[in-house]
Amino acid sequence: MHEIRWGIAGPGRIAQAVVRDFEHVEGARVVAVGSRSTDRARSFADDFGIERAHGSYRALIEDPEVDVLYIATPHPQHVAIATAALEAGKAVLVEKALTATVEGAQKLIETAQQRQVFAMEAMWTRFQPAVVATRDLITDGAIGEVRTVQADLGVQRDFDAGDRLFSKELAGGAMLDLGVYVVSFAQHFLGTPDRMEVTGSLASTGVDLDAAMLLAYDDGRAGLVSCSLRGPSPGTARIVGTDGWIDVASRFHHPHQVTLTRPDEEPRVIDAPPLGTGYSHELIEVSDCLRAGRTESAVMPLEDSLAVQRVLNEACERLGVHHEDDLDLDLG
Ligand SMILES: NC(=O)c1ccc[n+]([C@@H]2O[C@H](COP(=O)([O-])OP(=O)(O)OC[C@H]3O[C@@H](n4cnc5c(N)ncnc54)[C@H](OP(=O)(O)O)[C@@H]3O)[C@@H](O)[C@H]2O)c1
Repeated sequence: MHEIRWGIAGPGRIAQAVVRDFEHVEGARVVAVGSRSTDRARSFADDFGIERAHGSYRALIEDPEVDVLYIATPHPQHVAIATAALEAGKAVLVEKALTATVEGAQKLIETAQQRQVFAMEAMWTRFQPAVVATRDLITDGAIGEVRTVQADLGVQRDFDAGDRLFSKELAGGAMLDLGVYVVSFAQHFLGTPDRMEVTGSLASTGVDLDAAMLLAYDDGRAGLVSCSLRGPSPGTARIVGTDGWIDVASRFHHPHQVTLTRPDEEPRVIDAPPLGTGYSHELIEVSDCLRAGRTESAVMPLEDSLAVQRVLNEACERLGVHHEDDLDLDLG
């Protein structure tokens, strides 16, 4: 088993959480970090015992000792870094949402496919052991045909115009940060919706603060999902089939437990906690795919990320929120 050498682009909040889960990933090591600032890269490298600190994303991409980049910048900066990395032959794991726009997602995917280099959205939910257990139950027919998926994800965030989450320029808003989880979850178990309805509200900065969506399928199946930065919600998901249902415990995007309920049977509780915080599982998936020479994950394929991105951006547009990718990002 050869070692997979990782580089981290964007030493921000999520990178600090994800880097800690590498201790649970056999045969993988973070060897470099890249930032727009040498000092920030150095400080992150020192905090986490990483060998090399690069003062530009370009230097990280050109580091010959890096096999794969974990891209943890705000959404509009994903596409420029990811396409430059892919063009240099480096695999990429790109934080959710994949990009800020559908065009950006298409560009990223086309580059990966043309270069035949691995790319995946960091949708860690799909790799959680409890979600894997859910998938297995459904494949085994435990709840019959899946008819509806319900999911919510809300947090209370005090408005701060300077925070990424509320910034128009950084493609903030509930939809791309939290809506991506509920839409991706529904898409995973129902497929890509035929139509969509959305309602929601905006912040003074012009980004969406909350949204509720009906994802409609022509055969009557449906996803009922919501997301919010305005207030907390349970963060649960329920998958309802013709023969029963599965409750995914809070918070459903990294659950420890699911419960299967079927008529006339005692509910069956399945405990399946993640390794570490739960980011380890997507890192293991990337490592496994790279070792197997695959250019995509079968669990989080690029086609699914694109389908989800279309729903997210369509919903944003209908709410009056137009996002842009930062295609002129200075890579250094
Ligand atoms: N999977 C999860 O659980 C999870 C949780 C939170 C966030 N995320 C995702 O991770 C990404 C980053 O979120 P975050 O909360 O970690 O953001 P953050 O704390 O603001 O960090 C983002 C990093 O991106 C870099 N960056 C590059 N261009 C930038 C720009 N124009 N403005 C600001 N920063 C820029 C910055 O590093 P330098 O300036 O040093 O280069 C910064 O440290 C988002 O796509 C988000 O959806 C995922």
